[in-house]
Amino acid sequence: MARGGERRRMIGRGDHDGKDKEKGMLIAGNWKMNGLSSALEEVDALVRALKAHPAGCDVLVCPPATLVSQAAARARGKIAVGGQDCHPQPSGAFTGEVSAEMLRDAGANWVIVGHSERRQYHGETDALVATKAKAAWRAGLGVIVCIGETEAERNAGREEEVVDRQLAASVPDGAAAARTAIAYEPVWAIGTGRTPTTAEIARMHAHLRSELTKRFAAGGRAIPILYGGSVNPRNAKEILGVAEVGGALVGGASLKAADFLTIIESAPAGH
Ligand code: PGA
Repeated sequence: MARGGERRRMIGRGDHDGKDKEKGMLIAGNWKMNGLSSALEEVDALVRALKAHPAGCDVLVCPPATLVSQAAARARGKIAVGGQDCHPQPSGAFTGEVSAEMLRDAGANWVIVGHSERRQYHGETDALVATKAKAAWRAGLGVIVCIGETEAERNAGREEEVVDRQLAASVPDGAAAARTAIAYEPVWAIGTGRTPTTAEIARMHAHLRSELTKRFAAGGRAIPILYGGSVNPRNAKEILGVAEVGGALVGGASLKAADFLTIIESAPAGH
């Protein structure tokens, strides 16, 4: 009972009854293909620090699949743990793949789908990403759906057209804030140390909010829109202060607990 309740809380950014709906932002770390078992010390350090000073936001760590189970065992309810991808099917002859059900079974509460590295290196289409998002929901996981334009697309002034297409085709019908977040990650900002200006982030997030509201009505107003791409301890406060930024998806700067904690502390409380 308690376990299920806790899990639902961790998945739902706010319960279905809306009780703790405004807990705060979602700060998510994407470790990508980094981390041997020694990296679990970073999880322990995070958990220790958040025990001493509870975060004013939801904290999620997405380690490689090999570490999900151990990270979840060490999370102690202080952080949620997620996968970085999942297969659309629950099980079957898909060598090398990991299903959403398996992630859930290993203790994950969330999964990232449609990251630009999956789209780029594995040819993932919007349609495939949507089936993965549905698989996450089927397994009881929250899902972070990533979207974002390339540099060429931005230079051509096509960024809104690109994210509109991705949003329409990679986010399935039925998306709701309790189990869905969108991560806007301009591809050219990922791992490059370059970020859009705060005005550019504000403009894009306002645009995405209006698209979400058009499609999902009131439900679309509550779906958090995370920003991702070169978020670091120095720029986090400014980025997280931008209107309609509901959190961050952090790559490189999430690998060290100290850096990630600074980003967590940069989230405005009670957002
Ligand atoms: P970065 O990666 O923070 O290292 O730029 C972000 C991401 O890819 O999610």
